[in-house]
Amino acid sequence: MRLHADGWPLPARLTAPPLRGLPAMQARWVDGIKRAALRQLHASVAGERLLLRIYLIGEESSEIALQSDLLGQPPAWLVRQMGKHLADERRHASLFAAALTARGGIAPMPLSARPDALTLRKIAQWRTLAHRYGTNFSAGHLIPAFAIGLCAEQTFTRVLRRHCALIGTVHPLYPLLVGVLNDEDRHVRLCQHTLARLVQPSEHGSLASLLDEIRAIDRAWGVSSALIMYLAGVALRLWPARP
Ligand SMILES: [Fe+2]
Ligand SMILES: [Fe+2]
Repeated sequence: MRLHADGWPLPARLTAPPLRGLPAMQARWVDGIKRAALRQLHASVAGERLLLRIYLIGEESSEIALQSDLLGQPPAWLVRQMGKHLADERRHASLFAAALTARGGIAPMPLSARPDALTLRKIAQWRTLAHRYGTNFSAGHLIPAFAIGLCAEQTFTRVLRRHCALIGTVHPLYPLLVGVLNDEDRHVRLCQHTLARLVQPSEHGSLASLLDEIRAIDRAWGVSSALIMYLAGVALRLWPARP
């Protein structure tokens, strides 16, 4: 386990904890439904375009999050780190936009695509949580902002890892997806190191509770969004002329 600057161990929850009971069962359902959804979506060009659009919107949301008002005035070292992180997310958005255009899709840039209603609801719930927890930390709202960023990056690495494993190395989209996955793995470590540096030992309990709540919100939407993805994949396979 990584040590805090003062020698205190960080909560192990900076790494996504193993799930038990109902949450574990939900995670298995989400994984199974999403695998089936990916097979359906890859069965049509329109389906692949939808997948690329979902990833493009996710990258643009990361760009917006890195410029959020929640971040306040970060220290100079963090401003430099966030500048590099933002450049990565912008590059990812450009790569997904190019792949979308290559498949006949329209990639509105910059920052003009909107997440779906479920994702917007999740983001709103995370922001409410960030405001509630901001005063629990000496570094203020920066901590909830990075805790949310950590969980979002961990979720995206799980999504990309599943997708890469399903399509295999010979698929034309594999090099793009695995390249982005490597960067997102690095972003997870960046968020972990940032929290390790900024959260005081006396605040570890608050950070653990905050991470639990962020992940519970993420899980609450998992089954619904997986089912919507699956149904969209089936519809686009059966009626491929649809946009
Ligand atoms: Fe990214
Ligand atoms: Fe990222």
